[in-house]
This record gives sequence, C-alpha cells and structure tokens, in this order.
Amino acid sequence: MKSSEIRQKFLEFFESKGHKVLPSASLIPKDDPTLLWINAGMAPFKAYFDGSATPPKRRVSNSQKCIRTNDIENVGKTARHHTFFEMLGNFSFGDYFKEDTIKWAYEFLVKELELDRDKLWISIYEEDDEAFDIWYNQVGVDKEKIVRMGKDENFWEIGTGPCGPCSEIHYDRGVDYGCGDDCKLGCDCDRYLEIWNLVFTQYNKTEDGEYLDLPNKNIDTGSGLERLVSLLQDAPTNFETDLFMPMINFITNNCDANYGDSDEADMAIKVIADHIRGVSFAISDGALPSNEGRGYVVRRILRRAVRYAKVLGLETPFLHKLVPVVVDVMGGYYGSLKDKEGQIKKIVRQEELRFQETLEQGMNILEDIIAELKEKGLAEIPGDKVFALYDTYGFPKELTEEIALERGFEIDSKGFVQSMDEQRKRARAAREDYDKDHSEVELFKEIRKEVGNVEFIGYQERKAEAKVVSLVKEGEKVEVIKSGEKGKVVLDKTPFYAEGGGQIGDKGVLSKGNLKVRILDTKEVAEVIVHQVEVLEGELVEGLEVEAIIDEVLRRDITRNHTATHLLHKVLKDLLGDHINQAGSLVTSERLRFDFSHFEALSKKELEKIEDKVNSKVLENLVLSIKEMTLDEAKALGATALFGEKYGEGVRVVAAGDYSIELCGGTHVQRTGEIGLFKIVNESGIAAGTRRIEGVTGRGALDYIKEQEGIIDELGNSLRANPKELKGKVEGLQGKIKDLEKEINRLKDKLASSQSGDLLSEAKDLNGVQAIIHSVDSLDADGLRKMGDNLKERLDSGIIVLASILKEKVIFVAIVSDDLVKEGYHAGKIIGQVAKVAGGGGGGRPNMAQAGGTKVDKVEDALRKAEELISFN
Ligand code: ALA
Repeated sequence: MKSSEIRQKFLEFFESKGHKVLPSASLIPKDDPTLLWINAGMAPFKAYFDGSATPPKRRVSNSQKCIRTNDIENVGKTARHHTFFEMLGNFSFGDYFKEDTIKWAYEFLVKELELDRDKLWISIYEEDDEAFDIWYNQVGVDKEKIVRMGKDENFWEIGTGPCGPCSEIHYDRGVDYGCGDDCKLGCDCDRYLEIWNLVFTQYNKTEDGEYLDLPNKNIDTGSGLERLVSLLQDAPTNFETDLFMPMINFITNNCDANYGDSDEADMAIKVIADHIRGVSFAISDGALPSNEGRGYVVRRILRRAVRYAKVLGLETPFLHKLVPVVVDVMGGYYGSLKDKEGQIKKIVRQEELRFQETLEQGMNILEDIIAELKEKGLAEIPGDKVFALYDTYGFPKELTEEIALERGFEIDSKGFVQSMDEQRKRARAAREDYDKDHSEVELFKEIRKEVGNVEFIGYQERKAEAKVVSLVKEGEKVEVIKSGEKGKVVLDKTPFYAEGGGQIGDKGVLSKGNLKVRILDTKEVAEVIVHQVEVLEGELVEGLEVEAIIDEVLRRDITRNHTATHLLHKVLKDLLGDHINQAGSLVTSERLRFDFSHFEALSKKELEKIEDKVNSKVLENLVLSIKEMTLDEAKALGATALFGEKYGEGVRVVAAGDYSIELCGGTHVQRTGEIGLFKIVNESGIAAGTRRIEGVTGRGALDYIKEQEGIIDELGNSLRANPKELKGKVEGLQGKIKDLEKEINRLKDKLASSQSGDLLSEAKDLNGVQAIIHSVDSLDADGLRKMGDNLKERLDSGIIVLASILKEKVIFVAIVSDDLVKEGYHAGKIIGQVAKVAGGGGGGRPNMAQAGGTKVDKVEDALRKAEELISFN
C-alpha cells in the first residue's frame, strides 16, 4: 500500500465515523508563543481542548505536518528519528472518550490495514483500569499483551497544555528486529514498534506544573505515518519506504556511494533525505533561514545536510535539486508545497551558497594564518585564531585541527580554551551590566507598589496637570532633583508615551512657576512610566504638582511614521507574499525602519511599487480606528500579531480602513492623509534572510526631497545646466573625458618613444649583454612598460631596467629579451632585488616584471644593483 493510500484510508475511516477532516495546519504555530514549531497533531487544537475556542466540529481528524529537532543528532543514525514527520490523528473535543477511541483504532488496524491481530501489543497507564477493561473485555486482547506502565511511558504531555494518560499500540516485528531473547515491550530496540498513541486528554498542565481538570474529557491520538508505512511496506526502517526512497535514489544517482554500502554513507544519505523534507516544508510555511528562532532551526538543519553532502562528495549547491523530488512525493497532499516549489528551491540554493561562502571565508583565513606561520617559521596555530574561526565562521575546533595536521601544523588547544573562557568572561560582564539594569527594575517594582499604576493619558491628551510621585537619582530614590542635575521622574498620570512596540519615547517639558525641566526620553521600567529628565531651572521636588507637556511636533512626526509602518507592513505582505514577517521596527520622529523576513534584496522596481502602494493608501485618506477587544475578537478580525510577543487578554487593535489591521499599543494619525508622503530612503540586508527598509514621511519626506533638489541644483550650477539638461550634459562630459584619455595615451606613447630614442644611445655592454638601465621622468607604470617594450623592440637582444618616480613612490620595470631568458636571465628575479634596495618588493615573469618601492632617494642605488646583477649573472 502506498503511503498516500494509507494517509487517505486513515482520514476516510474517521470521516466515516463522523469526523470532520481538516487540512494540516501550518508548521508555524498561530498565536502560540510557547511553541517554535507545530510538533504534534494536537498542537494546533490546544484552544479547542482548553475550551478557549470552539472547534468546527467536536470530532475532527487530520494528517498534521510536524517538526521536532530536539534529537537532531539521532536523525540518520536510528531507524525512526526525523526532523519532519506526519502525524495522523483523530480528536474528540468533549465528545467521545476512551471506548470509541480504542475500538476504532483497533478496527482500523485490523480491518482496514489488515494487520495481524496477534502481533498487536498494548501499553496502558498503570492506574488506568478503565482502559484495561476496554482492551481486555470489549476488544478481546490477551491479558499478557496488555502491559501497564508508569508515567514516563504512558502519560502524554509536551510542555504545558492539554495532556493526560495514554494507551499505546505496538506491533511486534519479531525476534529478527529484537535485541535478544528477553526483549519485551518498552525495550528501546526496533522489535515492538509503537504505531499509535491514544491520549485521554483530561488535564491542562499549567506553567507552575499543576494539572487542572479540563472542562471536558477529550481524545487526542497520534500515529506516525512514516512508521505505519514502514510496517505496511515491510521496510526495516522508515527510510526504505516510498516516502524516502525517491530522495535516496536521487542522492545515490548523483554520487559514488550506494545505499547500504557503508554505515557512514548510509547515515549521510538518510540525513540528507530527512533534512530536505524538513527544510522544504518549513520554508513552504514561511520560515526562512536566519540566525534567530525558527529561522535558525531551518539554517541548522540545512547546514547539517550540506555537511553530510560533503561526506558523499556532493559539491555545493546540491540540496536544492532535491526539492522537486520532495514535491513529487509530498506535493499531492500538501498543495502549498507544490505551489512554492520554485521559491523553496531558490531559497535552499541561496542558503547553500551562503554557507559555502562562510566555509570558504573561513578556509581563506585559515590559509592566511598558515602562510603567515610558515613565513615566521612557526608550527602552531594560536588558540585565539582557532577560536576566532570557531566563533565567526562556525569552524569546529576539530575541523581546524584536521586541516592544520594535513599541512603539518598543530593547534594551541590550551589557548583555544583560554579564548573561550575570555569570551565567557565578557558575557559575564555583559550580564553584570544587565544585573545593574535589573536592580533598577527592582527599584521601580518597589516604587510601583508604593505609588500604584501610572495612568497613561497620551492617546488623547498632549498635556496634563500631574503630581510628581517619585524621584530617582543615580539608582537611588531621592526627594529632590536640583537645577543642573539629571534623574528619573514618575508622575501619577502622564501624556508621555513610553518607548515600546518600536516607537520611541516622547520628549517634552515639565514646568511650574520658575521650574523648568526637560524630558529627554520616556521608558517603561517594571510597568512604571519613567521620564528621564534634566532640571534646567528650579528644583523638582516630590509631591509637586507640575504641568507635563509633550513636544507635540515630534509626536506628530513619530505618529505619522508609525501609521506608515503599518501600511508598509501590509503592502509588503500583499506584494511580496505571506512569508513576510516583521523582524523588528523602529519608529522615531525622523524616520521609520522596518525589518522583515525576505530572502533577497528588493529590486528598484519592487521598491517603487511598494512606495506607490503605501502612498496610494495615504491618498485614500483611510480612517484609523482603534479599539480595545479580546485577543480572540482580534484574531477573528484577522489582526496581525507578532510571534513571540505576549499579548494579554485585552488587546488594542489599530486598523487603517479595513486595509491594515494590527495589534499595537502605539500612537497613530487619525486619517492616513496626515502622513503626507511616504518615501523609501534605503533598502538593505541586515542578516541572512532579513531585509530592512528605511523611510520618511511628512516633514521628513519634505526635507528629503529638498535635500535631493539641493543636490540637483548644485550639480546644475556647477555644470551650468537646468535639471532637464543634466543627463545630456553629463553624457557629453563623459564622452569628452574618453576622448581626452585617448589623447593622453597617444601622447604618452609619443613621449615614451621619444625618450626611448635618447635612451637607446645609452645602452651599454655588461658582460656581453646590451643593457639599458635608467630612471625616467614621471611616467606611470603603463607608460614605463610601453617604453620598455619599445626599447626591447629596437634593441633586439638585451635587458632593460627602468625606474620612474611618481607621487612619492618608485616604479620599476624590467624586461629581458627571449634569447637572454634562455641564457638564464630572469626579469622577475632582477626586479625583486632591485626593488628591495628601494624599500619595496615585487616580481614577475622571466621576460617582464614590475615592482614598486617607497624609498625615492634610493633609486640610483637600486639601478646600480641592476647593473651588478646583470654583470655577474
Ligand atoms: N499527542 C500525542 C502524541 O504526540 C498523540 O503522541
């Protein structure tokens, strides 16, 4: 039975039992900051189990894409470890429970898949008499084939969330698969293959480790498709199945190894076959290789595969060629994989090349280090260098050692460890800095206890009468901050926005009578809004009532940039695709900066389109509506939230018309028209797979345009042309420059030949060789060579050594006619020694060489050296 048929049979079976068959959810969890990847069939359904969301039906079934990487070193080594796998499952959300689950599972295995009932073994949680009763009395499994096990084996939980006791179904593959005669269920070997886990989900595990009863009793089951397939296709491991063999064949067709030849090659083949699936699926769901979070996992898997490809002698880039094979095997059921085939291939290839580059850079550096050591006559690579290679280029110490040994060098292991320690120390110092900040956090926590919540009124108000409730100077609480001093102030309420969500803090003033305080920045510390201040005049005293006024002009600029950032985010998603995710953002009064996941630089055309579309949304003058609502309501609206961000129950949703909808705590314009104009001023890459767009709006955009205009004006003035004429004028100048260069070259030739005429008469006989050795007037290297060639032609047989002083440097050229080369004269060797006299070096071919020197006053000595060398050759 083909794997696709098995998957289909499973889903159809549960459909016939009243289940709604759902497509696989994305590998990237939605609104679940506790998970990096979907790692089980139930993971997308957590909210249905805990009752916080309503399922489309109380019985559902799926084949879910999963990624688990905690055991990545085992992938390729064992029969059944994978980074990516599919889990077949049936689920009940407060509907059926143990009895139906157990009976259906049995029915499916025995009736539909026709597995031998005598080979099935069951494990149950040791206290679960109910499960025992169902298996024994109702299904009729032999008593001795039902094994009770402890919490480690038969209680299913993964981190926090829905969990419960479980019952596992195993298939006895016979002694041949076992590790010995006394091997029994629960043994680590491959004899008793676990094929299905039935979880009786009745608890919710909290972050504190408590097990709370769920509102309903539920069922969560999981059957690894790869295992089931290996069983039905009678394959010794998951790899010899129709899920992996096409990739394995493709790999072996492209290298010298055969599957089954050696453990080493087999492991490499399996690693690649597995990892390319994981990487392809991860990318198809929008994860891109990067240095952080999920992207880092993708990068690690891919790079591991590249390393193993090298074991097989497969040259990079190779892996991307496997993507169509994966699509062939899996794309029938997972349509999005097929749709994104081209994109996945491109990204994989790019990442392969990037890794290759990193490796090569590291190799080059290592070569340089080795060359330098050789020159100095040393035989050990210093520890700090080994460490730098490790730290920056991902060169494991062992790899460096291996390469070093091949070249007859050793590495300083002790020094390596020392460098590593130093790095740790630096990290510790950074932590101590962090601790210092932390003690400030503690201080403000206390302050918060004393003064309670600071009310933020800055969404509506620009100024407020507020009371100074706490003052901090140099990390300590104080009662007064005097004129000329800096410190931190807490008010009972404030219109000042504290830095957050990428938006910078407000600036402004506090005043009262003769008191003048400048607010330099506003930040939130331990949930307290803290104003950083400098007292300009008077004294700031605890308890004082002051007037707090934000710098409204700056705030307006910031606000324009913030709303423009939302529009930009949405436009990027619209124009470039769903893989665009915010990786960071900074909103200041001057500009906005938006970082996002994308695999290549944006073209000028794309940037233009993006800018145009944002501006069209500005011109539509969309109304901003800002509402507080529950997270669920926001999700229902399709609001964009950020991964890894923790949102409380109540969230603030900012919508620009119905175009962009985002969860956001920042400040925004009332209508998009206020943005005025949006201009992109820069696009760049900040890390692999992460791009950055910088833009300006409103006054910033006007300033930007004025600046550009200024540049054009200046150019126009100096070229005496109006802007429209500039292009033609510049082209004209470029043409003129070309003509002039030609003319100069012609003159140089002429000069060289006329000077060489004079020099020819000065040729002297050195040891039977016609030699012209001379310094000439300020010719550049090109001119000098030309002159040398000219002389050689006219001399027929001879040696020419010329020097020219140009810009505080000497250039030498040596030319030897072919007949003299045969006699053993060597231009390169001559020039090397000559240049050395003038403080330089160089070399070249036997018939022609060039070199430089810095000691201008040594030119004559250098030329004398040439004479000597030729005379005594
Ligand atoms: N959630 C259960 C598992 O992953 C079925 O094994």
